[in-house]
Amino acid sequence: MSRPIIFCTRRLPQDPREILGDAFELRTHGADRPITRAELLDAVKGVSGLLCLLSDRIDRELFEAAGPSLKVVANFAVGYNNIDVAEAARRSVTVTNTPDVLSEATADLAWALLFAASRRVIEGDRMMREGRFHGWEPEMLLGQDITGATLGIIGSGRIGTAMASKARAFRMRVLYTGSKKRPEFEAATGGTFVGLEELLSQCDFLSLHCPLSPATTHLIDEAALARMKPTAVLINTARGPVVDEEALVRSLKAGRIAAAGLDVYEREPAMAAGLSELPNVVLLPHLGSATLGTRRKMVQLAASNIRAVLEGRAPATPVHA
Ligand code: DGY
Repeated sequence: MSRPIIFCTRRLPQDPREILGDAFELRTHGADRPITRAELLDAVKGVSGLLCLLSDRIDRELFEAAGPSLKVVANFAVGYNNIDVAEAARRSVTVTNTPDVLSEATADLAWALLFAASRRVIEGDRMMREGRFHGWEPEMLLGQDITGATLGIIGSGRIGTAMASKARAFRMRVLYTGSKKRPEFEAATGGTFVGLEELLSQCDFLSLHCPLSPATTHLIDEAALARMKPTAVLINTARGPVVDEEALVRSLKAGRIAAAGLDVYEREPAMAAGLSELPNVVLLPHLGSATLGTRRKMVQLAASNIRAVLEGRAPATPVHA
Protein backbone atom coordinates (compact mmCIF):
# COMPACT_ATOMS: atom_id res chain seq x y z
CA MET A 1 0.00 0.00 0.00
CA SER A 2 1.38 3.45 -0.85
CA ARG A 3 2.24 5.67 2.08
CA PRO A 4 1.20 9.37 2.40
CA ILE A 5 3.96 11.59 1.00
CA ILE A 6 5.57 14.41 2.96
CA PHE A 7 7.74 16.87 1.08
CA CYS A 8 10.49 18.82 2.87
CA THR A 9 11.86 21.82 0.99
CA ARG A 10 15.44 21.64 2.35
CA ARG A 11 17.77 19.29 4.20
CA LEU A 12 17.38 19.95 7.95
CA PRO A 13 19.75 19.53 10.94
CA GLN A 14 17.88 16.41 12.06
CA ASP A 15 16.24 13.78 9.86
CA PRO A 16 12.46 14.26 10.20
CA ARG A 17 12.08 10.49 9.68
CA GLU A 18 13.19 10.04 13.28
CA ILE A 19 9.90 11.67 14.30
CA LEU A 20 7.70 10.68 11.37
CA GLY A 21 8.45 6.95 11.59
CA ASP A 22 7.86 4.55 8.70
CA ALA A 23 4.21 5.27 8.03
CA PHE A 24 5.06 8.12 5.63
CA GLU A 25 7.24 8.56 2.56
CA LEU A 26 9.54 11.54 3.12
CA ARG A 27 10.88 13.31 0.04
CA THR A 28 13.42 16.10 0.47
CA HIS A 29 14.70 18.77 -1.92
CA GLY A 30 18.24 17.46 -2.01
CA ALA A 31 20.20 20.26 -3.68
CA ASP A 32 22.38 22.48 -1.50
CA ARG A 33 20.51 25.65 -2.51
CA PRO A 34 16.99 26.99 -1.98
CA ILE A 35 14.30 25.24 -3.99
CA THR A 36 13.09 27.23 -6.99
CA ARG A 37 9.44 28.12 -7.36
CA ALA A 38 9.05 25.78 -10.35
CA GLU A 39 10.67 22.90 -8.44
CA LEU A 40 8.43 23.54 -5.44
CA LEU A 41 5.21 23.62 -7.46
CA ASP A 42 6.23 20.40 -9.16
CA ALA A 43 7.33 18.64 -5.96
CA VAL A 44 4.12 19.28 -3.98
CA LYS A 45 1.84 17.48 -6.46
CA GLY A 46 -0.08 14.82 -4.56
CA VAL A 47 1.69 15.29 -1.21
CA SER A 48 -0.17 15.03 2.11
CA GLY A 49 2.23 17.10 4.18
CA LEU A 50 4.66 19.93 3.45
CA LEU A 51 7.57 20.93 5.71
CA CYS A 52 8.65 24.33 4.42
CA LEU A 53 10.95 27.25 5.19
CA LEU A 54 10.14 30.92 5.76
CA SER A 55 11.53 31.63 2.30
CA ASP A 56 8.96 29.34 0.59
CA ARG A 57 5.82 31.20 -0.54
CA ILE A 58 2.80 29.07 0.28
CA ASP A 59 -0.12 30.62 -1.56
CA ARG A 60 -3.17 29.77 -3.64
CA GLU A 61 -1.01 28.73 -6.62
CA LEU A 62 0.84 26.25 -4.41
CA PHE A 63 -2.36 24.83 -2.91
CA GLU A 64 -3.69 24.40 -6.45
CA ALA A 65 -0.50 22.61 -7.49
CA ALA A 66 -0.59 20.30 -4.46
CA GLY A 67 -4.24 19.36 -4.92
CA PRO A 68 -6.70 18.01 -2.36
CA SER A 69 -4.28 15.48 -0.85
CA LEU A 70 -2.48 18.27 1.04
CA LYS A 71 -3.62 18.28 4.67
CA VAL A 72 -0.87 20.04 6.59
CA VAL A 73 1.80 22.71 6.04
CA ALA A 74 4.39 22.88 8.82
CA ASN A 75 6.51 26.04 8.68
CA PHE A 76 10.06 25.61 9.95
CA ALA A 77 9.84 29.02 11.67
CA VAL A 78 7.71 30.82 14.20
CA GLY A 79 6.89 33.64 11.74
CA TYR A 80 4.45 32.52 9.06
CA ASN A 81 4.00 35.62 6.90
CA ASN A 82 5.12 33.45 3.95
CA ILE A 83 1.88 31.42 4.18
CA ASP A 84 -1.59 32.45 3.06
CA VAL A 85 -3.25 31.08 6.19
CA ALA A 86 -6.75 32.21 5.14
CA GLU A 87 -6.43 30.30 1.85
CA ALA A 88 -5.21 27.25 3.76
CA ALA A 89 -8.24 27.47 6.07
CA ARG A 90 -10.61 27.69 3.07
CA ARG A 91 -9.09 24.42 1.83
CA SER A 92 -9.07 22.77 5.29
CA VAL A 93 -5.28 22.59 5.25
CA THR A 94 -3.82 22.86 8.77
CA VAL A 95 -0.89 25.27 9.17
CA THR A 96 1.60 24.97 12.02
CA ASN A 97 4.70 26.88 13.13
CA THR A 98 7.54 26.42 15.64
CA PRO A 99 6.98 28.80 18.57
CA ASP A 100 8.62 28.56 22.03
CA VAL A 101 11.53 26.30 21.07
CA LEU A 102 13.40 29.19 19.42
CA SER A 103 12.53 32.07 21.76
CA GLU A 104 15.66 32.01 23.92
CA ALA A 105 18.07 31.48 20.98
CA THR A 106 16.50 34.37 19.04
CA ALA A 107 16.56 36.65 22.09
CA ASP A 108 20.20 35.68 22.71
CA LEU A 109 21.06 36.71 19.16
CA ALA A 110 19.22 40.02 19.60
CA TRP A 111 21.44 40.62 22.64
CA ALA A 112 24.53 39.70 20.60
CA LEU A 113 23.52 42.36 18.06
CA LEU A 114 22.77 44.87 20.81
CA PHE A 115 26.22 44.40 22.32
CA ALA A 116 28.05 44.30 18.99
CA ALA A 117 26.34 47.42 17.65
CA SER A 118 26.49 49.51 20.80
CA ARG A 119 30.05 48.57 21.86
CA ARG A 120 31.37 48.66 18.28
CA VAL A 121 32.65 45.09 18.46
CA ILE A 122 32.86 44.56 14.69
CA GLU A 123 34.65 47.86 14.07
CA GLY A 124 37.18 46.96 16.79
CA ASP A 125 37.73 43.48 15.38
CA ARG A 126 38.28 44.94 11.91
CA MET A 127 40.76 47.48 13.31
CA MET A 128 42.80 44.66 14.87
CA ARG A 129 42.82 42.52 11.74
CA GLU A 130 43.80 45.46 9.54
CA GLY A 131 46.70 46.46 11.82
CA ARG A 132 45.16 49.86 12.66
CA PHE A 133 45.46 49.51 16.47
CA HIS A 134 48.48 51.57 17.50
CA GLY A 135 47.81 51.71 21.24
CA TRP A 136 45.09 52.61 23.74
CA GLU A 137 43.33 55.91 23.09
CA PRO A 138 40.86 57.77 25.33
CA GLU A 139 38.43 58.47 22.50
CA MET A 140 38.77 55.38 20.37
CA LEU A 141 35.53 53.62 19.31
CA LEU A 142 33.36 55.09 22.05
CA GLY A 143 30.01 53.32 22.30
CA GLN A 144 26.81 53.38 24.36
CA ASP A 145 26.32 52.31 28.00
CA ILE A 146 24.12 49.24 28.36
CA THR A 147 23.80 48.68 32.11
CA GLY A 148 21.09 50.92 33.53
CA ALA A 149 19.88 52.09 30.09
CA THR A 150 16.30 51.91 28.75
CA LEU A 151 15.31 49.01 26.50
CA GLY A 152 12.24 49.48 24.30
CA ILE A 153 10.41 46.40 23.05
CA ILE A 154 7.95 46.25 20.18
CA GLY A 155 6.34 42.80 20.15
CA SER A 156 5.77 41.53 23.67
CA GLY A 157 5.19 37.87 22.74
CA ARG A 158 7.47 34.97 23.56
CA ILE A 159 10.69 36.29 21.99
CA GLY A 160 10.12 39.87 23.17
CA THR A 161 9.54 38.52 26.68
CA ALA A 162 12.72 36.42 26.54
CA MET A 163 14.68 39.47 25.33
CA ALA A 164 13.31 41.77 28.03
CA SER A 165 13.74 39.22 30.87
CA LYS A 166 17.46 39.12 30.18
CA ALA A 167 17.59 42.93 30.61
CA ARG A 168 17.16 42.45 34.36
CA ALA A 169 20.79 41.27 34.51
CA PHE A 170 21.81 44.72 33.26
CA ARG A 171 19.44 46.61 35.59
CA MET A 172 17.71 48.15 32.59
CA ARG A 173 14.38 49.96 32.51
CA VAL A 174 12.09 48.11 30.11
CA LEU A 175 9.36 49.89 28.13
CA TYR A 176 7.05 48.12 25.72
CA THR A 177 4.23 49.00 23.38
CA GLY A 178 1.56 47.17 21.41
CA SER A 179 -2.18 47.03 20.94
CA LYS A 180 -2.77 46.29 24.63
CA LYS A 181 -1.08 45.84 28.02
CA ARG A 182 0.37 42.36 28.58
CA PRO A 183 0.29 41.43 32.30
CA GLU A 184 2.34 38.26 31.64
CA PHE A 185 5.07 40.34 29.92
CA GLU A 186 5.09 42.79 32.82
CA ALA A 187 5.30 39.97 35.39
CA ALA A 188 8.26 38.37 33.59
CA THR A 189 10.18 41.54 32.79
CA GLY A 190 9.03 44.36 35.08
CA GLY A 191 8.31 46.30 31.87
CA THR A 192 6.05 49.36 31.63
CA PHE A 193 3.46 49.83 28.87
CA VAL A 194 3.74 53.14 26.96
CA GLY A 195 2.52 54.53 23.63
CA LEU A 196 4.70 54.12 20.52
CA GLU A 197 5.81 57.76 20.46
CA GLU A 198 6.92 57.69 24.09
CA LEU A 199 8.72 54.39 23.54
CA LEU A 200 10.61 55.77 20.53
CA SER A 201 11.68 58.96 22.26
CA GLN A 202 12.65 57.35 25.59
CA CYS A 203 14.53 54.19 24.68
CA ASP A 204 18.30 53.84 24.35
CA PHE A 205 17.85 50.47 22.62
CA LEU A 206 14.84 49.51 20.53
CA SER A 207 14.42 45.79 19.85
CA LEU A 208 11.77 44.56 17.40
CA HIS A 209 9.97 41.25 18.02
CA CYS A 210 6.56 41.74 16.38
CA PRO A 211 5.16 39.53 13.62
CA LEU A 212 5.03 40.99 10.11
CA SER A 213 1.51 42.13 9.20
CA PRO A 214 0.01 45.06 7.27
CA ALA A 215 -0.03 46.95 10.60
CA THR A 216 3.67 46.40 11.31
CA THR A 217 5.01 46.88 7.77
CA HIS A 218 7.29 49.96 7.88
CA LEU A 219 6.27 50.59 11.49
CA ILE A 220 9.81 51.93 11.87
CA ASP A 221 9.83 54.48 9.07
CA GLU A 222 11.58 57.82 8.59
CA ALA A 223 9.27 59.57 11.09
CA ALA A 224 9.70 56.85 13.74
CA LEU A 225 13.49 56.93 13.35
CA ALA A 226 13.42 60.74 13.68
CA ARG A 227 11.69 60.41 17.07
CA MET A 228 14.51 58.23 18.46
CA LYS A 229 17.48 59.63 20.39
CA PRO A 230 20.60 60.33 18.31
CA THR A 231 22.38 57.92 20.67
CA ALA A 232 19.80 55.14 20.22
CA VAL A 233 20.50 51.70 18.76
CA LEU A 234 17.92 49.74 16.73
CA ILE A 235 17.89 45.93 16.78
CA ASN A 236 15.77 43.89 14.35
CA THR A 237 15.52 40.10 14.67
CA ALA A 238 11.82 40.03 13.67
CA ARG A 239 11.11 40.57 9.99
CA GLY A 240 12.88 42.96 7.62
CA PRO A 241 9.84 44.84 6.29
CA VAL A 242 8.98 46.09 9.81
CA VAL A 243 11.74 48.65 9.12
CA ASP A 244 11.87 50.95 6.11
CA GLU A 245 15.42 49.91 5.23
CA GLU A 246 16.11 52.86 2.92
CA ALA A 247 15.01 55.29 5.62
CA LEU A 248 17.27 53.43 8.06
CA VAL A 249 20.27 53.88 5.76
CA ARG A 250 19.56 57.63 5.60
CA SER A 251 19.17 57.87 9.41
CA LEU A 252 22.37 55.95 10.13
CA LYS A 253 24.29 57.99 7.56
CA ALA A 254 23.05 61.28 8.98
CA GLY A 255 23.70 60.18 12.60
CA ARG A 256 20.00 60.55 13.47
CA ILE A 257 20.41 57.28 15.41
CA ALA A 258 23.76 55.91 16.58
CA ALA A 259 23.73 52.35 15.28
CA ALA A 260 21.71 49.32 14.25
CA GLY A 261 22.01 45.56 14.48
CA LEU A 262 20.07 43.65 11.83
CA ASP A 263 19.40 39.95 11.38
CA VAL A 264 16.58 40.37 8.84
CA TYR A 265 16.10 42.46 5.69
CA GLU A 266 13.30 44.00 3.74
CA ARG A 267 14.02 42.11 0.52
CA GLU A 268 15.96 39.16 1.93
CA PRO A 269 18.60 38.10 0.99
CA ALA A 270 19.21 41.53 -0.67
CA MET A 271 20.03 44.64 1.32
CA ALA A 272 19.15 48.29 0.69
CA ALA A 273 21.78 50.19 -1.27
CA GLY A 274 24.45 51.64 1.00
CA LEU A 275 23.61 49.55 4.08
CA SER A 276 26.69 47.34 3.93
CA GLU A 277 28.98 50.37 3.54
CA LEU A 278 27.96 51.88 6.87
CA PRO A 279 30.33 51.29 9.81
CA ASN A 280 27.56 51.78 12.40
CA VAL A 281 25.48 48.76 11.46
CA VAL A 282 26.07 45.11 12.34
CA LEU A 283 24.68 42.73 9.73
CA LEU A 284 23.85 39.04 10.25
CA PRO A 285 22.33 36.59 7.74
CA HIS A 286 19.05 35.72 9.55
CA LEU A 287 20.64 33.63 12.30
CA GLY A 288 18.02 34.18 15.05
CA SER A 289 17.27 30.52 15.72
CA ALA A 290 20.56 29.19 14.37
CA THR A 291 21.85 26.95 17.13
CA LEU A 292 22.03 23.20 16.60
CA GLY A 293 19.91 22.47 19.67
CA THR A 294 17.21 24.95 18.67
CA ARG A 295 17.09 23.91 15.03
CA ARG A 296 16.73 20.25 16.09
CA LYS A 297 13.83 21.17 18.36
CA MET A 298 12.26 23.01 15.42
CA VAL A 299 12.56 19.85 13.26
CA GLN A 300 11.01 17.74 16.03
CA LEU A 301 8.11 20.16 16.51
CA ALA A 302 7.41 20.60 12.79
CA ALA A 303 7.58 16.86 12.07
CA SER A 304 5.44 15.91 15.05
CA ASN A 305 2.86 18.50 13.96
CA ILE A 306 2.70 16.86 10.51
CA ARG A 307 2.47 13.41 12.01
CA ALA A 308 -0.31 14.49 14.39
CA VAL A 309 -2.46 15.96 11.62
CA LEU A 310 -1.97 13.00 9.28
CA GLU A 311 -2.82 10.60 12.13
CA GLY A 312 -6.00 12.53 12.91
CA ARG A 313 -4.75 14.23 16.09
CA ALA A 314 -4.50 17.94 16.94
CA PRO A 315 -1.04 19.41 16.25
CA ALA A 316 0.78 21.04 19.18
CA THR A 317 1.23 24.44 17.54
CA PRO A 318 -1.38 25.27 14.90
CA VAL A 319 -1.74 28.81 13.54
CA HIS A 320 -5.02 30.40 12.60
CA ALA A 321 -6.03 33.04 10.06
C1 DGY B 1 11.44 32.45 12.62
O1 DGY B 1 11.34 31.34 13.17
O2 DGY B 1 10.46 33.09 12.25
C2 DGY B 1 12.81 32.94 12.42
O3 DGY B 1 12.85 34.11 11.73
C3 DGY B 1 13.64 31.86 11.76
O4 DGY B 1 14.51 31.32 12.63
